[in-house]
Amino acid sequence: MTGGDRRPALVTPHERPRRLRTTPAVRRLVAQTRLHPADLVLPVFVRDGIEEPQPVSSMPGVLQHTLESLVDAAREAVAAGVGGIMVFGVPREADKDAAGTCGTEPDGILNRALRALRDALGDSTVLMSDLCLDEFTDHGHCGVLDAHGRVDNDATLERYAQMAVAQAAAGAHVVGPSGMMDGQVRVVRAALDAAGHQDVAVLAYSAKYASACYGPFREAVASTLQGDRATYQQDPANRTESLRELRLDLAEGADMVMVKPAGPYLDVLSDVAEVADVPVAAYQVSGEYSMIEAAAERGWVDRDRMVLESLTSVRRAGAQVVLTYYAVHAARLLAAGR
Ligand code: PBG
Repeated sequence: MTGGDRRPALVTPHERPRRLRTTPAVRRLVAQTRLHPADLVLPVFVRDGIEEPQPVSSMPGVLQHTLESLVDAAREAVAAGVGGIMVFGVPREADKDAAGTCGTEPDGILNRALRALRDALGDSTVLMSDLCLDEFTDHGHCGVLDAHGRVDNDATLERYAQMAVAQAAAGAHVVGPSGMMDGQVRVVRAALDAAGHQDVAVLAYSAKYASACYGPFREAVASTLQGDRATYQQDPANRTESLRELRLDLAEGADMVMVKPAGPYLDVLSDVAEVADVPVAAYQVSGEYSMIEAAAERGWVDRDRMVLESLTSVRRAGAQVVLTYYAVHAARLLAAGR
């Protein structure tokens, strides 16, 4: 139809935003948010005492690795251009105790894994370690308990200090205290410095909510949590509290800060990104992954579009770095021009 055939328009829009959506090329030109593999961090699980990698049934495509398969997976991630790797350790059930001792021992599974990864990869990637006791305690809490069974904040800090030094000695470039104890960043920073690890950075979980989205992770780390984490993780009802946690973490020496979960907390992420003067990360957690996988498996959503859209949204809300179980998959989609 030519212009001349047109009937007179009833209304003529004053502005036509659709002009900038007409072709893929113009959309690409004006896109304000870009995903890049280098911004993505792959969380990985390494389990002690297994001969073969084990699937995590609630997270299709995710494995509990042996030390050997972990190193292979990390090499694969680096080859795909992924920016970093966050390592979680899964000890033998028999090695768990009330103090999470195997989390601080140099030959505990997480520290062994960090050593193997650093040996294999050197400085070619950023090696991050989860700094928390929950994977290593028999009660499953992120700290040690007092005589009444409550998580003892200050006694836990001592354990975190030891853990930070053990992880740095094992080769972590970045430690990620994720237990939400008050003062954890200060204690970790001081312990690292006193042990000569001034260059090891602290990625502080500033805003970490008590979320149902961690459900599949608990299977991945074979957690035996008794009770819940509501006395230390944040209430999903609260928003400004995250700015308080951010202020404290920055004052205590955080090099990077994180918001977690990511997708359901984009408002919090946006608040934090607006004021933080350090890089902000967000963690697309296990439940966010599994929800996409479950819906995609049923054919209810397009997996690849969901992956890229969810990660783009997290970046748009202000995260510079995104931790995601899709890191390698997304990197490959991006390399293929998606
Ligand atoms: C605590 C920790 C958890 C996650 C990361 N670090 C579990 C929790 O707080 O219960 C969850 C990550 C995910 O769900 O993907 N060490």
